[in-house]
Amino acid sequence: MRQTDGVQLPDPALVVLVGASGSGKSTWAAAHYRAAEVVSSDELRGIVGGGPHDLDASGDAFAVLETVVAARLGRGLTTVVDTLGLDPAKRRAWRDAARAAGLPAVAVLMDTPDVECRRRNAARDRPVPAPVLAGQLRSVRDVRPLLEAEGWDLVVPVRAEHAPEAPAPAEVRSTPDRTSSLGLRSVLQVSRFPWGEDPLDWLTGIARAADEAGFAGLALMDHLIQVPQVGRAWDPIPEPWVTLGAIAGLGTGLELGTLCTPVTFRPAGITAKAAATLSALTGGRAFVGIGAGWWEREHAAYGLTFPPARDRLDDLERAIVTMKALWASGTKAYDDHGVVLPETTSYPRPAGPIPVVVGGSGERRTLRIAAAHGDACNLRTTDEAELERLIGVLHAHCDDVGRAREEVAVTVLDLPVVGSDRDDVWARVERHRGRTPAATYAARTHAATVAGHRDRWARLAGLGVDTVFIATPDLGSPEDVLALRGLNA
Ligand code: CTP
Ligand code: MG
Repeated sequence: MRQTDGVQLPDPALVVLVGASGSGKSTWAAAHYRAAEVVSSDELRGIVGGGPHDLDASGDAFAVLETVVAARLGRGLTTVVDTLGLDPAKRRAWRDAARAAGLPAVAVLMDTPDVECRRRNAARDRPVPAPVLAGQLRSVRDVRPLLEAEGWDLVVPVRAEHAPEAPAPAEVRSTPDRTSSLGLRSVLQVSRFPWGEDPLDWLTGIARAADEAGFAGLALMDHLIQVPQVGRAWDPIPEPWVTLGAIAGLGTGLELGTLCTPVTFRPAGITAKAAATLSALTGGRAFVGIGAGWWEREHAAYGLTFPPARDRLDDLERAIVTMKALWASGTKAYDDHGVVLPETTSYPRPAGPIPVVVGGSGERRTLRIAAAHGDACNLRTTDEAELERLIGVLHAHCDDVGRAREEVAVTVLDLPVVGSDRDDVWARVERHRGRTPAATYAARTHAATVAGHRDRWARLAGLGVDTVFIATPDLGSPEDVLALRGLNA
């Protein structure tokens, strides 16, 4: 969805502009869409003919326009048709084409007073002759009731003066606990490490930028070989607890932890020791993301066993119980939930609670383990309908095991494409989409500006999401991290 003058426009969509000359169609289109998304009959007259006003070129211009519209809609790409929009047969054909492409069809009616259109027209280098404009203005009056009856998914009137832009996110102050004005926190997940010659310098830059950009924390992916979803097998993927130790030395206010540590990598007691040490070093800002593990190849390569899923899930449950037993005060023996420890002597003590974030979306076991033992459950989707459903499943497990729902926070892993403006968003989509069609990749990554992602995150908060772990495909430099700061306002 795109926020325009207070109206939510679907995106991608077909957007047909309707309005007289001088009503501001092209100006509105340029303010809200990338140039490549706008197909203008005037501009095409200038391309196939002598200039925007070369009426002899209209036939050729419209032929090209129809070709462009059909090609873009066929690819599921947003298409803004900038013509007078006063021909009902053309409107119907565009609407039908959008339907065939599965895109919503939106009519945008320029609600500009006649006198203002005349004034702007008169001020132009090449005004439309007065009688022609008068005819257009009559047609626009008549088109209004027609649009309502034509079967558009949305008819949007645009007033003459643009509503003031929404305040820039940076003007809103985040609260000290780093919950944003959206009502959630975000944690930067670092999954790729293009650190060149100086790993520590790169890490320092990224972590300081995350702190400055208002992230609540920083999470490192825990893998032994870089996963194909993120990079190439020969890209560096550092051991996270060592790396977090280096970041702990920077004195940021970030919470530090993993997302996610496979239970198969280290005995649970060793993970408990690493996290307790990190907690001590950071004044209580450590967390542990933990899951059942999934990638057999890295286990084989490092000489680790990779038991069947059922056993890994049993191990996951016992690992959380073991860590919590070791972090609890005292040194007494522990015997519960199938875990038997003759003593729980673990020093240094954690300097604060260490939240355990259970990763995975397995509905029968993983969510139940999170409900029974986790402090948070990280759901691997930001599809809102699916998310709502999974939260329901999690809550049902909470009810079932007798745990208060509020004790298990909902977190999500978000993998968005974020750009500075619409052009930048699409440049990034093109850079990263590989062989995936642009519209598909853009939809999957919710490709949008910071403002667009804020709208989405507000809806996630409404669903009950407490923390968003965010990893973008563009985290190469501190500047890339700082560009995300508006998300945390
Ligand atoms: N304009 C303005 N304030 C607006 C919108 C437009 O002053 N809110 C001015 C533009 O700068 C331009 C003129 O009005 O000089 C016409 O705007 P334009 O967007 O070009 O109108 P269109 O509807 O696209 O006109 P045409 O059909 O002739 O292309
Ligand atoms: Mg125009």
